[in-house]
Amino acid sequence: MTDPIANALLNTKVVPLVQADDPATAVKIAEALIEGGLTVLEVVLRTSEALQCLEAIVKEFPDAHVGAGTVLSAEHARAVLARGATFIVSPGLDETSVKVAQSAQIPIFPGVATPTELQHAWNLGLRTVKFFPAGLAGGTKMLKAFSSVFRDMRFMPTGGVSAGNLSEFLEIPSVLACGGSWLTPASAINDGDFSAITKLAREATTIARK
Ligand code: 3PG
Repeated sequence: MTDPIANALLNTKVVPLVQADDPATAVKIAEALIEGGLTVLEVVLRTSEALQCLEAIVKEFPDAHVGAGTVLSAEHARAVLARGATFIVSPGLDETSVKVAQSAQIPIFPGVATPTELQHAWNLGLRTVKFFPAGLAGGTKMLKAFSSVFRDMRFMPTGGVSAGNLSEFLEIPSVLACGGSWLTPASAINDGDFSAITKLAREATTIARK
């Protein structure tokens, strides 16, 4: 893994999802998260303007670590790299996306939920993966079981993580960071209440530092 991302993740321990319909809103969400102490952001490819949102955040916050999530294909991977993503996250394990990221020497965290997927990721040379959907796929118990076998694998649990269970995940030594959408609720975004996002980011930062 490229060191700046690893170091930033070790520091913040939380990766908020940014989903926006337009670049101006995306920048406001990013600003609110950064103000709350979260400087590693994952812009998800789930809206028609997602690539423009990614590009705008990269441009506006050059000191933040801006990655792309919901990257489903090699084509997506190339598109987000062209927009300046410094890491890639996928819900599942797609070898072609992994190859694109590895050729570009950009970290990629594909989602895994079973030992077979984990072993596949390990054999592709990956040593950090997303555990998704963490809550439904066995939570902390499953992670501990994975970690007892895959001793050099680090995890980014995502899916069902919240302020309520964040510390349980972060206490596991193999957990590098947790991801999630709880920091950027659609209701706050729709209401233009970006201070609510900063508040949630501060709460997560405080939990992560404990
Ligand atoms: C993801 O893409 O990582 C998940 O949709 C996030 O899951 P959450 O909404 O439960 O945080």
